[in-house]
Formats: sequence, structure tokens, C-alpha cells
Amino acid sequence: MREQEFIQLVWDYYYQHKRPMPWRDNTNPYWVIVSEIMLQQTQVARVLEKFPIFIKQFPSFEVLAASSLGEVLQAWQGLGYNRRGKYLWQIAQKIMQEYDGVLPDNPDILVNFPGIGKATAASIIAFTYNKPTIFIETNIRRVYIHHFFSEAENISDNDLLPFVERTVSKDNPREWYYALMDYGTYLKTQIINPNRKSKHYTRQSVFEGSNRQIRSQIIKLLLQGPKTLAQIQDIIRDNRVQDNIASLLKEELIQNEKNYYIIS
Ligand code: ADE
Repeated sequence: MREQEFIQLVWDYYYQHKRPMPWRDNTNPYWVIVSEIMLQQTQVARVLEKFPIFIKQFPSFEVLAASSLGEVLQAWQGLGYNRRGKYLWQIAQKIMQEYDGVLPDNPDILVNFPGIGKATAASIIAFTYNKPTIFIETNIRRVYIHHFFSEAENISDNDLLPFVERTVSKDNPREWYYALMDYGTYLKTQIINPNRKSKHYTRQSVFEGSNRQIRSQIIKLLLQGPKTLAQIQDIIRDNRVQDNIASLLKEELIQNEKNYYIIS
């Protein structure tokens, strides 16, 4: 398919099937960052449910920065991967302390923020400032592999990037990326995952019985109040508890005070 036809096809899909999302209707920097961090590893349906509650409690970088980590992680429950909640809180603090409350419009600055990699930095700039930055995430990857690499194997994002660059809308990159993501989500229901042909293909590990589950159980427990190791082990009966506490301490998601583990 020629690139012009491809572009038309993506727009046509989007005009008929676009998914309304609050952070698309209101593209202020705060809403964009909160939604992009939430959407990194969590499905749109879950984020649609949690986002309005989070925004109501923490309406701005200022309010979020002034809140405690415990308050933020409490609101994060149900979204998974708690460290993203901490990153978001730290991002708000950095923006307040170092940038006068204004989000920098340069992706090279944003990549140095906690929890923001190259793709997220570029997506935040595209969505907030409607600039034609270039990035790939899982839905976008699926679209380009399906249309331009359907016979290939072991495709790297570097192979796809020139296609993304040539096809990005210069007039409305923000909307173009929404269109790619919506179309990519649709393709997932239509074809057997073409992302398997990507070098970067990974599946989210099974939650049940995982370390990730132990971690989130510990956090959930400590959000209810301080506990000793013995108390935690009494409730979460798993021999991986101590190792997980060690890594949570190291990542400063939890603290130890006088033999009690806490989230402050
Ligand atoms: N709209 C804006 N950002 C999005 C994302 N990361 N995933 C799906 N839809 C979005």
C-alpha cells in the first residue's frame, strides 16, 4: 500500500471510530502526563475509570506535588505497577521546584524526568503541544508492522521509525497519533498479534502468584498503617516477602522506622 493510501485509511478509521477520552478533550500538560503515565502499562478501560477520580483528588501539578506519597499510592490502587505512581508524584515536584510549574516543551529535557523514557517524552510533547515528534508504542508498532512489514521477522523499531516520520501529520500530529493508537487497538482484534514479529515484543507477565503481586500486597497492607516484618509475614504467607520488602525499601516506595515498615 502506498503511504498516501495508508494515511487515508488510518484517518478514515479514526473519523468513524475514535474513542473519546477526557485527556484528549482537554490536552493541558497535567492531564496529558497523568494519562500517559497511567497508560504505559494499563489498559485504556481501566484508566478511563481511575483517571477522573485521580484528577479530582489531585487537580494540578501543584496539588500533587504537595501531597504525600501515601496519598498518591492510595489513589493509584487498581492501576498496578505502583512505582509509576511515585514517578508521577516526583515529576510534579520537579516541575514545581525546577520549572516554575510549567512543563518544558522539549523531549530532551523530559527524558531526564523519573519514569519518562524516549517514547513517553515524545508522546507528551505531541499530545500537549501538538508538535510532530516521532515515537512508537505498542499500538503504533502493530499498525506499521501490519502495513509495511507483514512478511518480515525480527523487526526493530529502528526499521519502523522512517515510516512513522514520513507519515506523521505536520498539521495535526496530536490527532494523528490518536488515530494510529485507535486503529492499532482495532487491528489487535482483527489479526493475530503482528507485534510478535517485533524484536521488542514482550508480554505482560502473569500477575497471579508473581513477585509483582507480592509487592502490591505489601504496599496495600502498609497503606492501611505501619507493620512489622512479622505482622506482614503473618498476613502475606509467602517466602518472597522479605526480598520484596528489601527492593521496595531500595526504591524508596516504603521506609523503615523503628522496626515498622511505613509509607510516608
Ligand atoms: N490517547 C492518548 N494517549 C493514549 C495512549 N497512550 N493510549 C491510547 N490512547 C491514547
